[in-house]
Amino acid sequence: MNKADMIWMNGEIVPWEDAKIHVLSHALHYGSGVFEGIRAYETERGTGVFRFPEHLERLKQSAHLYYMELPYSLERLREATHELIRANRLRSCYIRPLVFRGYGEMGLFPLNAPVDVVIAVWPWGAYLGEEGQRNGIRCKVSSWRRMSPDSFIPQAKACGQYLNSILAKVETAKAGYEEAILLDEHGNVCEGSGENLFVVIDGQISTPPPTASILDGITRRSVIQIAADLGFPVVERDIARGELYQADELFLTGTAAEVVPVREVDDHLVGPPGEITKAIQATFFEAIQGKRQEYLEWLDFVDLDGIAAKEPVSAAEEN
Ligand SMILES: Cc1ncc(COP(=O)(O)O)c(C=O)c1O
Repeated sequence: MNKADMIWMNGEIVPWEDAKIHVLSHALHYGSGVFEGIRAYETERGTGVFRFPEHLERLKQSAHLYYMELPYSLERLREATHELIRANRLRSCYIRPLVFRGYGEMGLFPLNAPVDVVIAVWPWGAYLGEEGQRNGIRCKVSSWRRMSPDSFIPQAKACGQYLNSILAKVETAKAGYEEAILLDEHGNVCEGSGENLFVVIDGQISTPPPTASILDGITRRSVIQIAADLGFPVVERDIARGELYQADELFLTGTAAEVVPVREVDDHLVGPPGEITKAIQATFFEAIQGKRQEYLEWLDFVDLDGIAAKEPVSAAEEN
């Protein structure tokens, strides 16, 4: 992976190599942590963090759902992230805040273990590849179902829950596909291993509803708004697996992946990126680059004044 110079740990900025925890940290054994994935983009107005308040709010919610109280205010975490981006002199980066049960207590009752907070930032290119973003990726429906809401809390972005995503990701990668699509407990389409999913049939865009055990993606929310602004209101409804094979267009959305067209599912051809997908993708990219006045409020600008930024890494280095 790409590195940066510094990491924020429990209130202090420390060198990357020194950001260490004890092997008996609770989260390492039981997955008792929650996190966020956020991106900051380089724009003409400076570095802008995309929908930062919404991400921080979701972090707080995820922590709350697993009985963790954040030891810092969201404003403190926002300032800490700005400080860290400045300390690392990054013009654009991925941001990973992690709130986890630390060292001090073992066993499944976690409430006496401390709650630690770290924030890392590093340069990270297109998660599913630039080629995939341009021409679409090949997906496979995984044999693993997305966790059911009576076993876990799908709305929480919780560390241990990602073992479900990992099973699906590894299964489909070993079968030669670029991303997994998971069904929910009822057999309806849910989402990718780390992305939400949209399908276009006869000009109508649909996406699974929150009751389909999805993570309420912040890119998903942005895309729903962009689509509506472009004159394509999105319907949230149950989607049957077979509809994936009949779709005129299909795309995935997520912070890491951004907006990625799907050109094939289970060896059924969907086709090259369609007009609606391309229009949404183009508007999304303009929005994150600060080129659309109406979406400027989605960017929280970091004051990098007087700080010489590092040279950006090339896409080849990033992936
Ligand atoms: C399981 C899962 N679903 C969906 C998403 C997309 O959410 P967002 O757009 O907020 O990144 C993510 C990524 O965070 C994810 O991990």
